[in-house]
Amino acid sequence: MLDKLKALKKAIEKVVDQAKDAAGLEQVEIEYLGRKGKLTALLKGVADLAEQDRPKVGALANQIKREVQQLLEVKKRALAGGQFSVLGETEREDVTEPGIRPPEGHLHIVTQAIREITQIFSNIGFMRTRYPEVDWDWYAFESLNMPPDHPARDEWETFFVDAPISKKGKMVLTPHTSNGQVRELERHELPVRMISIGRCYRRQSDITHVPMFHQFEGLYVDKQVSISHLRGVLDYFAKEFFGSGRTTRLRPHHFPFTEPSFEIDISCGICGGTGVGKDKQKCRVCKSGWLELGGAGMVHPNVLKAGGVDPKKYSGFAFGWGIERTYMMKEGIQIDDVRTPYKNDLRFLKQF
Ligand code: DAH
Repeated sequence: MLDKLKALKKAIEKVVDQAKDAAGLEQVEIEYLGRKGKLTALLKGVADLAEQDRPKVGALANQIKREVQQLLEVKKRALAGGQFSVLGETEREDVTEPGIRPPEGHLHIVTQAIREITQIFSNIGFMRTRYPEVDWDWYAFESLNMPPDHPARDEWETFFVDAPISKKGKMVLTPHTSNGQVRELERHELPVRMISIGRCYRRQSDITHVPMFHQFEGLYVDKQVSISHLRGVLDYFAKEFFGSGRTTRLRPHHFPFTEPSFEIDISCGICGGTGVGKDKQKCRVCKSGWLELGGAGMVHPNVLKAGGVDPKKYSGFAFGWGIERTYMMKEGIQIDDVRTPYKNDLRFLKQF
């Protein structure tokens, strides 16, 4: 039996060596290792041997089976390798040939603006944050010094969510990013230097409004923060984002969450803030030398209190306005309808 096994192994080695392709090798495999194969038959025969011979013969038979399987595997790989070298000859590729450039996209203009604004503020230590876009009335209005019957609420064309009312009121789609103010204060990490950017929702659609738009909200809370700090930050932003020749001015206004409150104007880039166009007539873009940018003010003590901050020890300023609007006011950008960037018209988007 042992001799038979050794002879069979020799025979297998020979035929494997002679096999010329995968099909030939498969034939060998069937002939020897298949269900009715010669090696399989010998292995089955081990069971009929006398008990004292079985372990020795069995061990050798199994060892030979393993070796043969290995041998087949090695040969299989060698044959496959050969196939590839044939492919290499027939299907050679010229890697120096100029390729076909796949169409390449770029970031949407609003994303570009968000990144630029984030970078400008991070250079002076403001951290980008994000707060919920579906939030409780408490954060969107009430904690911002706007109780339910406050008339100013009508200015925010709010979408209400059909959700159970909680201790924090109804759920709304945030109509401004100001909901981030009290949420940020609640973290109790003072001083606060936040720039929160997110989506806002209002029931409005015309050439200066889209129902979904973006705002950025700045909040700075520390000891002895004054209006000069606010002016400095706004002026810095205007120069970085719009160009070194631009300046800002503050106009008195009213917001429930700031006291005093301002509207921020930026000098017009077309007439240089003079209000007079090249034709010596009123500037057609601004009419007055200034363009309205957004809202700002010193954080109202009630807002600080709502966020758990002592208004006797701390003060702060806040500002906020729309990304789309701001981007449209950049020099050289001539977008006359705020809805255009959202129409997914590649002829438009490709220009930026
Ligand atoms: N949230 C206001 C709006 O959507 C803008 C605003 C005004 C934000 C004054 C502020 C602020 O932080 O201080 O119209």
